[in-house]
Amino acid sequence: MTDHLTIVDHPLVQHKLTLMREKDTSTAVFRQLLREISHLLAYEVTHVLPMTTKRIETPLKEMDAPVLDGRKLALVSILRAGNGLLDGMLDLIPSARVGFVGLYRDEETLEPVQYYCKLPGELNERLVIAVDPMLATGNSSAAAIDLLKEAGATNIRFLCLLAAPEGVARMKEAHPDVPVVTAALDECLNEKGYIVPGLGDAGDRMFGTK
Ligand code: URA
Repeated sequence: MTDHLTIVDHPLVQHKLTLMREKDTSTAVFRQLLREISHLLAYEVTHVLPMTTKRIETPLKEMDAPVLDGRKLALVSILRAGNGLLDGMLDLIPSARVGFVGLYRDEETLEPVQYYCKLPGELNERLVIAVDPMLATGNSSAAAIDLLKEAGATNIRFLCLLAAPEGVARMKEAHPDVPVVTAALDECLNEKGYIVPGLGDAGDRMFGTK
């Protein structure tokens, strides 16, 4: 763990992640586990939210009780696998604002190209959490963060399920101000850009495509 990287090593997260990694885990179970892990990761990634107090009355007496302060946070899903993390996070934070960023890799330049971007307003006043289960090369993640910064975001966190050392290094180089929260840091990338040992293609496993 460094200031830039937080690994959520909670036993429940690690157990569920192991079940997700197994190749014979079905699409339905994979999706359910991702939703459950998202709840636990959401808890970790939001602990920096600012608080204030509100005067309330319990049945016994008045008190200044803690409540979230400031604008509602923004969750930004990096399509398409980000939607798996997003769904679970919305269970816990139903009033969050939601944005989507779609990027594909140009076959010739190998650079990420934006094909969709729809973001909530006032990003400069919100904690913005970008979600994508797999931080592999880090190229598309870094490009997505570029878009968020261009749209005014200054307080950004990146949440993923699995990270490769290469992706963490790329994010640290491109966006040292954006903390990365993950459930595990795996060994490396293979020649096709898959995280090893990983869990395969997160989108395919989540949506049953291949
Ligand atoms: N994206 C995935 O879905 N899986 C990987 O291992 C790497 C990138």
